[in-house]
Amino acid sequence: MNTILAQLDDRKRAAAEAAVAEISEGMLVGLGTGSTAAFAIEALARRVAQGLNCRAVATSVQTARHATMVGIQLLKLEDSAEVDLCIDGVDEIDGELRALKGAGGAMLREKIVASAARRMVAIADASKAVARLGARPVPVEVLPEGRAFVARQLGLLDCTPVLRLGDQGKPVRTDQGNIIFDCQFNRHGNLKRTAGLLSNIPGVLGHGLFLLEIDALYLGTADGVVRTERPVSPKL
Ligand code: A5P
Repeated sequence: MNTILAQLDDRKRAAAEAAVAEISEGMLVGLGTGSTAAFAIEALARRVAQGLNCRAVATSVQTARHATMVGIQLLKLEDSAEVDLCIDGVDEIDGELRALKGAGGAMLREKIVASAARRMVAIADASKAVARLGARPVPVEVLPEGRAFVARQLGLLDCTPVLRLGDQGKPVRTDQGNIIFDCQFNRHGNLKRTAGLLSNIPGVLGHGLFLLEIDALYLGTADGVVRTERPVSPKL
């Protein structure tokens, strides 16, 4: 592996391990999806092997497989109305702990678990920290039957919706069997307004803007892990 990738992995791992240290006996933990969350799953598995008693809820099929493989006991998402602590990666995060997620297509379940969590912590290497969200497109999960209608509505929001395609040139399907439009906004206006407008389109099931869910960030940097807390939790 090249040095830059190894360095990124070290920072992801350090951030993940710092977040996993927050898990205490008896907790129900939300497990995110992606390469950084995978380090958290490994770190939690080590604590479980040392005797920690906790259970978890997975945000994707991939995470459920990984967690099961390393011996973490899972509860079904459909049976879990509340979670003690959710730990998940991000694609971009700003100084107000507003994040963009969904590069891996898991943002719908991720948002359910993040919203169900009494505390949600984001974990990332420093490359994910941005002054302003929006360099990457916003992933939008859409019911397949709404494809043409939603694409037209997204276009009216001054963004360019691009259907996410897989290796075979076929639309990528989420774990729920839905499709994804990656929406590059031409102008970045008010994020709250954008999130609201996206949610209001019939056929849109979820999107990757996480504006209020994240309570704290563990950021892996060259100088170690830096923790930032949201001053006032919007969940209170
Ligand atoms: C999954 O859909 C995403 O929201 C991930 O949580 C996000 O893309 C972070 O992934 P990495 O940790 O692999 O960068």
